[in-house]
Amino acid sequence: MLAIGMYKGKPGAHKLDLPKPEITKPDEVLIKVKQAGVDGTDFNMIKHNLQDPAEGQDKIVMGHEMVGVVEAVGNDVKTIAVGDTVVLTVRRGCGICQPCLHNQSDMCMTGLYTERGIHKKDGFFTEYIVDQEQYAIKVPNDVADMAVFTEPLSIAEKGVEQIRLIQSRMPWACEHPNHSFDSQDWGKCKTALVVGAGPLGILATALLRLADVFTYVVDIVQEDSPKVHLVKHMGANYIDGRGKSAKELVDFCCTPTDNLDIVFEASGAAVTAVELINYMSRSSIYVMTGIPRQEIRTELDAAQLVRQIVRNNQVVVGSVNSNRSHFEMALKHIPQIEKRFSGMLKEMITHRFGLADHDRIFDLSDTSRLKTVIDITG
Ligand code: BGC
Ligand code: ZN
Repeated sequence: MLAIGMYKGKPGAHKLDLPKPEITKPDEVLIKVKQAGVDGTDFNMIKHNLQDPAEGQDKIVMGHEMVGVVEAVGNDVKTIAVGDTVVLTVRRGCGICQPCLHNQSDMCMTGLYTERGIHKKDGFFTEYIVDQEQYAIKVPNDVADMAVFTEPLSIAEKGVEQIRLIQSRMPWACEHPNHSFDSQDWGKCKTALVVGAGPLGILATALLRLADVFTYVVDIVQEDSPKVHLVKHMGANYIDGRGKSAKELVDFCCTPTDNLDIVFEASGAAVTAVELINYMSRSSIYVMTGIPRQEIRTELDAAQLVRQIVRNNQVVVGSVNSNRSHFEMALKHIPQIEKRFSGMLKEMITHRFGLADHDRIFDLSDTSRLKTVIDITG
């Protein structure tokens, strides 16, 4: 069967021909992959030649976003049946730490986890996958069409969850008690700045707007770009960040009396990401999700940074990966996003390819892409 992967010491994406996997344990499921999503991590793996196969292997199958249909199940599988549409989580826990032992490998404390398609475990750019039942999540019928967005949306879900969990320290964030961060209507009377209008920034914006957060999105593309169309379609405001300093970005969205409650960093632009900390509002939260890959140095006034974080009760929190609960949240939100911002997920898919198109998928000179989906028909 066809797959796309990376070889140790051989830059670029390569076509692989692999044997079809088989169920060998009673708790396993065999899944025929229907669609796989390509994201910034995949592009960074190619661009920065980051291949990380399992110990003793010379290659890794790429891909960590998928949706597929179950073709066979082991004897002990109870929650999933042949014919079900499913998505798979990405991380496989270390088996040692308490978070991993309690289905929270996204918070692994040893770092000894693996990630399918990224870190020491083969991924999903292939025709068939075998995995354990515990990592497969059944997709409701009304979501199947857009379920390839479940994994990237789950990353945004975890980020928003962190914001709500941490800011529930402050029930009186605004004058309405039923608008506190842990209430149903938490987003009303809150303002957010999303940095980066790539797939993650757009999906985070969708969740914030679904909760009625007043949202600004900054990127470095011109107003007539498809990204900006999507931002506006969700009722968010676009800030063209080209040539603007971090201070100018924040001045654009928030006056001193207009609190910036949330910053959601989804660009990985390290210098801006750090500089923005200086312009956080009092008692606000900043969640970082973008992962910079190169060394980037900058100068900053360390004393000022520490002083203002302390004096203003600010929280800067990193958020990586996601667990089953975030996938479940994403599956619940996909139809809501589709309903409220009709057609937006479909509009996000700018490029579609097959598994045989590995060269075109990773054409790094094409900057027009937002979401790339691989349709796997074979
Ligand atoms: C994936 C996460 C993963 C992270 C770091 C992201 O692209 O969506 O699941 O944890 O990369 O490897
Ligand atoms: Zn762990």
